[in-house]
Parts: sequence; structure tokens; C-alpha cells
Amino acid sequence: MKILAIDTSCDETSAAITDNEVILANVISSQVQLHKKWGGVVPAIAQRAHKERIVPTIKEALQQAGFKLEDIELIAVTYGPGLAIALEVGVAKAKELANQYKKPLVAVNHMAGHIYANLAKNLAGKAPVEKIEYPSLALLVSGGHTELVLIKAGGQLEIIGQTLDDAMGEAYDKVAKILGLGYPGGPTIARLAKQGDSRAYSLPIAMKNSQDLNLSFSGLKTAVLYLVKQLIDSSNDRKLSKQQIIDIAASFQRVAFESVILKLERAVKKYHVKQVLLGGGVIANTDFRRAIRAALKPFNISVAYPNLIKLCTDNAAMIAVAGYYQFQRGEIVNNIDRLDRDPIASL
Ligand code: KG4
Ligand code: ZN
Repeated sequence: MKILAIDTSCDETSAAITDNEVILANVISSQVQLHKKWGGVVPAIAQRAHKERIVPTIKEALQQAGFKLEDIELIAVTYGPGLAIALEVGVAKAKELANQYKKPLVAVNHMAGHIYANLAKNLAGKAPVEKIEYPSLALLVSGGHTELVLIKAGGQLEIIGQTLDDAMGEAYDKVAKILGLGYPGGPTIARLAKQGDSRAYSLPIAMKNSQDLNLSFSGLKTAVLYLVKQLIDSSNDRKLSKQQIIDIAASFQRVAFESVILKLERAVKKYHVKQVLLGGGVIANTDFRRAIRAALKPFNISVAYPNLIKLCTDNAAMIAVAGYYQFQRGEIVNNIDRLDRDPIASL
């Protein structure tokens, strides 16, 4: 089945073509350069860029796959969660194409997309996992979400733990801002942390003693802010040294990893899961993957993640694959004209 998928949930305009789960094209037009000078995503700028880029992005995906719109058999689109006015652009285009070309439409939850990125196959037919082994556990960590999702038989998803305030990627971005490292901060902190002493500063692990599976990152961010203020106040030139920045990045990252891994281990034990699937932008961090693998080694279960960074961060191929599974379950949009975006859609 040839699928066209669209994702405009945040600051990347993406269109993909797959043949079932096999990725034939996954075009991502990033807006990072547009938002950089504002230090974060500006919704109105994102919407304008999506409007300008959606048609060329779809065209390029079709061209790369060697198809015309007439060849497409299913259209999949992200309806939420995300920025309302950004989601709107993709949803409107998907509805227009589904009506014009008389194709079935599936509305995909963006977070389900991050899970299904693990089932996306390359041209050789290889995917991080062949199939979901129930019960499976997904850890989704992005700029907007930090969730532990239990995947029960039949593909039913249940959020069993989540952040009560900032998402982990958001904490990376905010700490990067405090350290004067620019936007987006995740990749920069990850790079600097490699050279730093992760034990140089002690920072708090939030929710450590709470028995539930929820997380919190805003306290960690505030602790970094106070630490930076204190270091600046006691310095002669009233700024952080390069070494201090690197050590704070490493210490922040260690504590962020530890807080997530603590709850991940608890969830694996509690639900006796057979498999752990990782997804979302922060999973692009190789040290994070390594730390998760090491922590879960004693459980002797498979830990999978998308091999390509492009499949960890926002992209439409993951929406195509999730859409493919939804179509198999018969979950198509019955009334195309009434489909609306849902910025706070939950799994
Ligand atoms: O999944 P994603 O592309 O978009 C959302 O749906 O939010 O995730 C983006 C987030 C940003 O906060 C970014 O700083 C973070 O992922 N990120 C990273 C890395 N690469 C991206 N965080 C830590 N280490 C990385 N290497
Ligand atoms: Zn995402």
C-alpha cells in the first residue's frame, strides 16, 4: 500500500512516502534557522513557513519516490498534539488531497508516530523491531512530551507516567539558554557533556521517592539557574568559565538521565514488559541510548530505537507507518470534512 504522510505539528514541515512500512521518501524542511533568533518556536512564523513549504515538500517526496498523487492509496496526517496553527496547515492539505483524489485518510497521533518510528523499514526491509511484543513499553522524550506508554495487546496505548511540568527536551533547551548556548539546546548540551565532569555539581533528582511513574524537570532547570547565578556571583569576571559550562552540561545531563531511567526501570519491573521502544528528539542522544541500554541489561529484554536521527526527531515517515497500522485496524476518518486538529490530543 502506497502511503503519503504529512506532519506539521511543530517546526518541521515533513512529507513522506512509504510502501507499507518501507520508507521510500522522508522529506523534512526544518525551520530551525527561522526560529533561532527568537530562542524558541514562534507559532505564527511556523504557520507561515508550513504554508509556504507544504506543497513543495509533498512534491519533493513524491518525486523522490517516483510517484504521482494518483498512485497514492492512503493519506496519513498528524492531527495532534502540537501547535494548533501549525497542525492546521497539514490537516487542511491532507483533507484537500483526500477529497480531490478520493483517497482514504487516517488521522495519526504524533506521539504514536514516535512509537511506530521503530517499525519503519529501510529499503532493505530492516526495522529496529519487526513487531511489537506485548506488553511493550515506549519511552517518548521530545521537546513537548516525556511519557511512559504501555502498549497492550491489540495496539492499545496507555500513558502510565509522564512529566508533570517541562518535557525533557524542553529542559535541555532551557538549560542551554541559561548557559548561553543558543537554540535548540539539546544537541549542543549533548556534545559539550561528552567533555565534562558529570559529577562536578550535584543537582536534584525530582520525584525520586514518589512511587508513581511521573517525572518533573522544572526543579532541575531552576537548580541549574541558581547554580549559574551563584557561580557568576563568585567569579571575578562575572561570567562562567568554559570548563564550568561544560561541567554543568554534563551534570545536568547525568541527572536528567537518572531521573528518567529510575522510572523506566520501575515501569519495566511493574508491567513485566517484553520490549522497550524509544522515540522522540531526545532519543537522538547516543549517550542517553547507551545509558538506557546499560540500565535495562539485567532485565534481558530488547531495547529498540530508530537508528537514524531523522526518525527520532519529527518526520512524516513515522506518521505513515503508524497510519498503516491504523488502516489495518480499520481506523479511517469517516467524515473527512469534519476532521479537525487537536493540539492537546492524548494517546
Ligand atoms: O521530537 P522532536 O523533534 O520534536 C518534538 O516533538 O518536540 O524533539 C525536539 C527536542 C528538542 O527539545 C531538542 O533539544 C531535543 O529534542 N534534542 C536533543 C538532542 N537532539 C534533539 N536532546 C538531547 N540530546 C540530543 N542529541
Ligand atoms: Zn515529536
